[in-house]
Amino acid sequence: MGTGMSILITGASRGIGRATALKLAERGASLTLAARGYPDLAAVAEEARQRGGQAIAVPTDVTQPAQVADLVSEAVASYGKIDALVNCAGVGVIRPTLELTEDDIDQTYAVNTKGVILVTRAVAAEMLKNKGGRVITPVGTMGRFVMRGSAAYSASKWGAVGALKAMATEWQRQGIQFTLLYLGGVDTPFWDAIDMKLQRDKMLRAEDAADAVLYAISSPAGSVVNEILLQPESHQLI
Ligand SMILES: NC(=O)c1ccc[n+]([C@@H]2O[C@H](COP(=O)([O-])OP(=O)(O)OC[C@H]3O[C@@H](n4cnc5c(N)ncnc54)[C@H](OP(=O)(O)O)[C@@H]3O)[C@@H](O)[C@H]2O)c1
Repeated sequence: MGTGMSILITGASRGIGRATALKLAERGASLTLAARGYPDLAAVAEEARQRGGQAIAVPTDVTQPAQVADLVSEAVASYGKIDALVNCAGVGVIRPTLELTEDDIDQTYAVNTKGVILVTRAVAAEMLKNKGGRVITPVGTMGRFVMRGSAAYSASKWGAVGALKAMATEWQRQGIQFTLLYLGGVDTPFWDAIDMKLQRDKMLRAEDAADAVLYAISSPAGSVVNEILLQPESHQLI
């Protein structure tokens, strides 16, 4: 990827989004970083600048269209264009289905499905002006498979996959390329609030996920990485 590439990352305050921001900063990217929690986001932006990138932190709730519009405007005002979007904002509720609250279902849908549509279409409107761009989304393996307790979470991720595939169909002739990242478990704060027996030391690292994003962003002109399925070693071919 070229120095100065303008990349917007949601969910950049921690986990996969943060690791991706820092990796892309080392490659000289111009970053627009979004999440709700400002102090953490500002700290990531500062670290990104120290690693050689440009970075602005824009507090944003991806479920709020007006905030998403402001986010995109700030990116364009700062860098003139958006070359790539990395949709990392997400929430996880994995809990027996009988224990899911209505709010659990609404929140996972609002952030993981509706939020992805709102951000992607707002960014795509800018990309269409420049006749191209890349959209990389870590939908996770729960966007393709299911596990016990994932009714709300898998529904939100399968919904995001459907939405992203539909948008790819709409804009593929205008140069917008979509990548779906099917990542197995990644050791991030995502799992802190999930009440499950976990072997976090056997999970992927956030840096592994960031490497997959970099690979997708860097694919040669004229090619597109449709999908990456990256699992911890314990999950070979299952
Ligand atoms: N960890 C895994 O095992 C794994 C595997 C596959 C896929 N994924 C997916 O990858 C994405 C990132 O996961 P992660 O592990 O990095 O999670 P994480 O560590 O919990 O980080 C989630 C990020 O999303 C932001 N966010 C949450 N709600 C938001 C909202 N309404 N508006 C804007 N930002 C919001 C959070 O910041 P604020 O709370 O400050 O807003 C944070 O920056 C998620 O979509 C997740 O489903 C995760």
